[in-house]
Amino acid sequence: MIRLNHEALARENREPIEAPRRMPPVFAALVVALAAWGAAYLWRDAGEGRFGEGDQRTPAALLVRPASGGAIDGKALYEARCAACHQASGLGLPGAFPPLAGSEWVLGAASRPASIVVAGLGGSIQVKGHAYQGAMPAFRDQLSDAEIAAILTYARGAWGNGAPPVEVDTVAAARAALADRAGPIEGEAELVRLVPSP
Ligand code: HEC
Repeated sequence: MIRLNHEALARENREPIEAPRRMPPVFAALVVALAAWGAAYLWRDAGEGRFGEGDQRTPAALLVRPASGGAIDGKALYEARCAACHQASGLGLPGAFPPLAGSEWVLGAASRPASIVVAGLGGSIQVKGHAYQGAMPAFRDQLSDAEIAAILTYARGAWGNGAPPVEVDTVAAARAALADRAGPIEGEAELVRLVPSP
């Protein structure tokens, strides 16, 4: 049988109990303020149509859209899609990628560079007195008419180029004219035949 030693028990401390502790009011206020700020942030973006209906763009494309909304950033798209070959400077790489800075093709009839970007380019082409014999991929499946127009508008105004902007309709017409075409445009000879300068 167990015998309790009451004297020893009396000397023991009481069992601890856990008292409920309230969150400090300052911390509670901070949590509420952060939640409200987050909600307001999302609300503002939705109001600008960035995530709203009618916005068919992919999340990746949304990234190149300036926070002010509206216009497509042709410079950012150029740097993402074209600069690997033609360089951010627009100077290309001698012997491999032709320059867009000062190029007679970029500065001439807008329907020609538009057709090159839509369908790609192979064969040989003469740019600023140098012959190139390379292969440029088609962008018809990667870029919309408006994006191609924005890129070419940037290229025609950057690096000392001074040609007028490219209209979205010009790109749409080039896309329609090349709709049945599978391979790239075969060099300068086919380019000038397919796309007469107006
Ligand atoms: C993979 C490399 C590559 C990429 C990416 C590329 N190009 Fe090209 N581009 C070339 C090559 C190579 C040629 C010359 C093709 C030939 O010799 O037939 C060319 C030719 C051109 C020309 C006509 C020649 C000139 O210098 O004016 C234009 C205009 C042009 N590209 C614009 C663009 C634009 C705009 C983009 C981005 C949407 C782009 N290119 C992306 C490689 C590329």
